[in-house]
Amino acid sequence: MTYDASLPQSDRSTQTAAGHWVLARAGKRVLRPGGLNLTKRMLAAANITGQQVVEFAPGLGRTAQLIIAEKVSSYTGVDQDAAAVARVENIVKDAGGTVINANAQTTGLSSESADVVVGEAMLTMQGDKTKADIVAEAFRLLKPGGRYAIHELGLTPNDIDTQLAEDLRKQLAQTIRVNARPLTEKEWCAILVSAGFEIEWVGTSPMALLSIRRNIADEGFGGVVRIVKNVLSDKDLRTRILSMRAVFNKYRNHLTGIAIIAKKPAR
Ligand SMILES: C[S@@+](CC[C@H](N)C(=O)[O-])C[C@H]1O[C@@H](n2cnc3c(N)ncnc32)[C@H](O)[C@@H]1O
Repeated sequence: MTYDASLPQSDRSTQTAAGHWVLARAGKRVLRPGGLNLTKRMLAAANITGQQVVEFAPGLGRTAQLIIAEKVSSYTGVDQDAAAVARVENIVKDAGGTVINANAQTTGLSSESADVVVGEAMLTMQGDKTKADIVAEAFRLLKPGGRYAIHELGLTPNDIDTQLAEDLRKQLAQTIRVNARPLTEKEWCAILVSAGFEIEWVGTSPMALLSIRRNIADEGFGGVVRIVKNVLSDKDLRTRILSMRAVFNKYRNHLTGIAIIAKKPAR
């Protein structure tokens, strides 16, 4: 099968590309663990209409579309992948949005220039230091009283056995070929609080990235037919996706999609 050359990592083989870009190759556009529904609940809780919004790691731009549709006063995307930047630019430019090719930990954007910072499925794939650096950058960009909305992979319960959590992280990292480090709700909140944020809202939704039901909700019926066709006709794609699904299933009682709204205290 030939892949869409405008997708990130289209130069890498299916065996070695990062899991989320393998899913994109198969036709998936919603790449966050709690699905579109948790994203919509999170955006509603973040109150973005009329606000200046920065999105970290927009990826293929599905949430960028939702943000623009809320009549925000400005949209700025920040992604480290140049191919992702080009795709999202196409989605937001007519609404006056811009996208920069930079790391979320050093965006170069002005301090206190955003009302809301959104970031999905991007902190999970960073080590502890980079997680803290990205959260600190969100804090710097926000005006006092502004909100940081995250949607990430959660571990459950809060007192999950340490060895189980370690095994899970190892197998997840192996199968998705990204250093995935999901955290418990308590741990996600602690990172935000130590950067100076106050926790305002927490929502969860099952981690169902590869369930048929979730995919019909997120990608539409036509989207699922396309994904199934692609997976059936490409052995490498099938092998990667089945191996990811096996790990997600093995640990399904300990994985969750988690979204948090954290507020920068008003002065
Ligand atoms: C799993 S995809 C998620 C895309 C999108 N947010 C979604 O939920 O569908 C991860 C995205 O994070 C971007 N990314 C990862 N680390 C980043 C960083 N430190 N700074 C900016 N972008 C980053 C990748 O380029 C990719 O677009």
